[in-house]
Amino acid sequence: MNNHMLIRFPNVSSNVSVARIAAATFASFKEFSISDIEEIKVAVSEAVSNAVLHAYPDCYGMIEVIMEDHDEGIQITVKDSGKGIEDIDKARQPGFTTMPEHMGLGFTFMESFMDELHVESQPGSGTTVRMVKKV
Ligand SMILES: Nc1ncnc2c1ncn2[C@@H]1O[C@H](COP(=O)(O)OP(=O)(O)OP(=O)(O)O)[C@@H](O)[C@H]1O
Ligand SMILES: [Mg+2]
Repeated sequence: MNNHMLIRFPNVSSNVSVARIAAATFASFKEFSISDIEEIKVAVSEAVSNAVLHAYPDCYGMIEVIMEDHDEGIQITVKDSGKGIEDIDKARQPGFTTMPEHMGLGFTFMESFMDELHVESQPGSGTTVRMVKKV
């Protein structure tokens, strides 16, 4: 690993854009194209928005974004300690949402814009979304 960074913040919606800009800046030191950086921004926004919106219904909770620079690309992990996801396969399907005013496309964007997407979750103890974008 060449470099790494951890940012930790509460589930306040304005922090989504801070995390997005931090990830874009972190990624900008690698040989990514402008469109790669745009895709990283969308994927990180979706993962952090999910933690802000879904992880801690009606309560305060912390979110961590861990960024790692590897020779092959960057890895970004978004972690919460919230309510977790009952059925990950179902949650990842395009159009699945537990908030009817939403489109249920966050995981679909993460999957299509990044090279790897790994979701781990335990109901009651939290969710970890790990994404890799290769240079
Ligand atoms: N961090 C999380 N904690 C708890 N549940 C989550 C988390 N992330 C996703 N989910 C669950 O997975 C579902 C699907 O997530 P996805 O991002 O694909 O769609 P959405 O957030 O509902 O809508 P959109 O992202 O289009 O606004 C969510 O509706 C929610 O039930
Ligand atoms: Mg979402």
